[in-house]
Amino acid sequence: MRTEDAPLIRLEDYRPSDWLIDTVDLDISLHPTKTRVRSLLALQPNPAGRPGAPLVLDGDELTLKALALEGAPLDAAAYAASPQGLTIHAPPQRAFTLTIDTEIDPSANTKLMGLYRSSGVYCTQCEADGFRRISYFLDRPDVMSVYTVRLEAEKAQAPVLLSNGNLVAAAELPGGERHFAVWHDPHPKPAYLFALVGGALDHVRQDYVTAEGRKVELAVYVEPGKAGRAGWALDSLERCMRWDERVFGRNYDLDVFNVVAVSDFNMGAMENKGLNIFNDKYVLADPQTATDGDYASIEAIIAHEYFHNWTGNRITCRDWFQLCLKEGLTVFRDQEFSSDERSRPVKRIADVRMLRSTQFSEDAGPLAHPVRPRAYKEINNFYTPTVYEKGAEIIRMLKALIGDGAFKRGMDLYFERCDGTAATIEDFLACFSEASGRDLSHFARWYEQAGTPTLVASGQYDGAAKRYTLELAQSTPPTPGQSEKEPMVLPIRLGLVGSQGDLPLKTGSRAYSGDGLVILDRASLSITFEDLPEAPIPSLLREFSAPARLELDLSDGELIRQFAQDSDSFNRWQALQSVATRALTTAGRAKAERSALLVTARALGEALDTFLRRDGLADPAFAAQVLRLPAPADIAREIGRDVDPDAVFGAHRALSVAIGAALLPRLPGLRDALSSQRTFSPDAASAGRRALRNELLGLMALAAPAEGAALCEAQFASADNLTDRLAALAAMTLVPGAAREALIGRFAELYSGEPLVLDKWLMAQALIPESGTLERVKRLMQHPAFSLGNPNRVRGLIGGFAANLTQFNRLDGAGYGFIADIVVALDRANPQVASRLLGSFKSWRMLEPVRRRLAQDALGLVARTPGLSRDVSDIAERTLA
Ligand code: TRP
Ligand code: ZN
Repeated sequence: MRTEDAPLIRLEDYRPSDWLIDTVDLDISLHPTKTRVRSLLALQPNPAGRPGAPLVLDGDELTLKALALEGAPLDAAAYAASPQGLTIHAPPQRAFTLTIDTEIDPSANTKLMGLYRSSGVYCTQCEADGFRRISYFLDRPDVMSVYTVRLEAEKAQAPVLLSNGNLVAAAELPGGERHFAVWHDPHPKPAYLFALVGGALDHVRQDYVTAEGRKVELAVYVEPGKAGRAGWALDSLERCMRWDERVFGRNYDLDVFNVVAVSDFNMGAMENKGLNIFNDKYVLADPQTATDGDYASIEAIIAHEYFHNWTGNRITCRDWFQLCLKEGLTVFRDQEFSSDERSRPVKRIADVRMLRSTQFSEDAGPLAHPVRPRAYKEINNFYTPTVYEKGAEIIRMLKALIGDGAFKRGMDLYFERCDGTAATIEDFLACFSEASGRDLSHFARWYEQAGTPTLVASGQYDGAAKRYTLELAQSTPPTPGQSEKEPMVLPIRLGLVGSQGDLPLKTGSRAYSGDGLVILDRASLSITFEDLPEAPIPSLLREFSAPARLELDLSDGELIRQFAQDSDSFNRWQALQSVATRALTTAGRAKAERSALLVTARALGEALDTFLRRDGLADPAFAAQVLRLPAPADIAREIGRDVDPDAVFGAHRALSVAIGAALLPRLPGLRDALSSQRTFSPDAASAGRRALRNELLGLMALAAPAEGAALCEAQFASADNLTDRLAALAAMTLVPGAAREALIGRFAELYSGEPLVLDKWLMAQALIPESGTLERVKRLMQHPAFSLGNPNRVRGLIGGFAANLTQFNRLDGAGYGFIADIVVALDRANPQVASRLLGSFKSWRMLEPVRRRLAQDALGLVARTPGLSRDVSDIAERTLA
């Protein structure tokens, strides 16, 4: 189906289902190509629906085998069945049961939606609308049912049989070759939370007792032989369960909690009730095969999916427009968990980097949409950084706005009032209005209005009157379908930094709500602070209190002073990022000259040198963030129009080299001081030391390639963990030559049996900013480790290349053509992965005219391909619109 033909689904058209399904009894007999599904539905008319309506069940590529109403086969004239749906024309206007038999082929399912096989393991993915690929159903989140699931399979093929809820029966069948298990989930749930797993799997397990005293069996299932890598996930699970009890007062509610890792998965993980299914990349970890970054993401994603049990499952979404109700809130919860487990400022810096690179760029391009979209053609294309990350920022702002106490009361009210329901953003916000006594209707604009607001600030100090006046103004740029923008509610955490630290904030302004918080809720505002003995440096958006761009005209000298003196760690980091960003946006504009860049490089080099000497070792994780410049793509986004990626990259490289050169005398000593004699530990402090040490290695490779390369080789040879080995490889990619190729070869040999590690190896090569990279990537597609059928492999190699600023944007258009061809080829097998890859074109409009034209041509080629999926044609059309 082409998207022009695909219906546009609108929020305003929502109406309740005409029918409800109270219980679902599934009987599933697993077979590689002919899996039989019998579904017994207990239906009743929905009092809120249209009386006398037909029963229209969703389907997708289904084959109906039998159909019975209250046990009696239905007359052919009474229904209409197709692969896409099943309609009962005149169902009884009372409660009744329907038995539906379908047959599906999990081995042929390459979309990885519905029931499929991953390395021989049967598994499911039903969010958002995959259940309809298993059986005809009212596949919408506001239809919630109690499920009982009987699974049957050959014992040798699937010794482990799992589904949602608690195990109620299991036995061998006569003959001993087949067996079955029955699972019952007492909590009503929408179909998208259904899951099953069947296969030969190892597991690790642990008992857990909730704060309320419930005994729970926790288990993590992995491919045979990998149980030794499941411990960190299990440990993370236990810690996040305790945290949710302590911080949000939420206890687990079943006797079993299972996590299963599979190797073919479209996204990160899925929160199916009591049976979370994960991309194995976010479960498996040991020091030899996972980096510190992997340990941190596993901890975060295990927590994310677990937290969904309350924010997503117990309280689900009325419709898919409310996706941010569960995702934004759950991301906020997992961010808070990681902040408490690790370093709060470092976590915030990492999250903001991610927000800016993924969400700000989305918000600035043709795919911009509100956190709660108003219309969609393909819901799978709305699992976006805007819904997830900006959605989490809204929760963070809400908490800042109403205060910790009211936020806690609001959450408690939400859990109590909305438990067991399919809720809306309005339901959610009403709880916080009540808890805080505040009108949140203006704040709710954050859900409606797309685009990143710009906050323009300027200050005036009147020395005679000891008075400082701050002018604040906001505006939001136009986005597709929204040209006129209203002012947002921006919570601005601020401080006034003096020579001895923070100055007291004395003001009579009503916009100041105490505790260093100013609320800007109109287009502009002027606020005066009294009794200031000296001219302050304004420190605005501390902790990045609102997802906005800040324009504040401070000199490099003032920013460097802020870096040294601000009490807010986030803004200390931001101050130096701002110095670098300004220099790079100036130098990165096409044909700009670079002399000013070197002046900035000297100033930055001195500031960093002083910092590393004084307190770089006090908090290495923070220091590593300070040393890392904004990425070239961030600079391109800041420039915003007529971008020449080569010029941006050139400026970035020049600044990095100059900073590396300035620090060079200090680098070896610092690296030695950071070396650890102890055996590997993944804890945040040890990871921080490795991060700084490896950041310094990258600088050495740039500033002194020969010594740097030798150091990379030495580190690769002596490392006892993947973080250090991969950092050596990554730094080595900055130094062209035979030694680099040799190290690439050694890495592949060492990790030949480890697909997840080879994904990083593929990506490191795809990111090399040199003209030969496209040919290298094409060569690597022939490597035995690569496969277009596995999403992790595709994201590693092809996704890596699409993120390579200079090579994806090659001046001859070959980068665009390559990705376009792969999107088209991939679309036939897996539309979700193909459409995500096509999203790489989202910033094409900001390019200079030649590349813009070439990118447009490649997009046009995709858009005109016959037989595209709805996923890909939707992205192609919106990107070109
Ligand atoms: N709800 C999942 C999460 O925690 C997202 C997800 C997993 C998903 N698999 C998917 C969304 C497939 C769409 C399609 O964030
Ligand atoms: Zn989620």
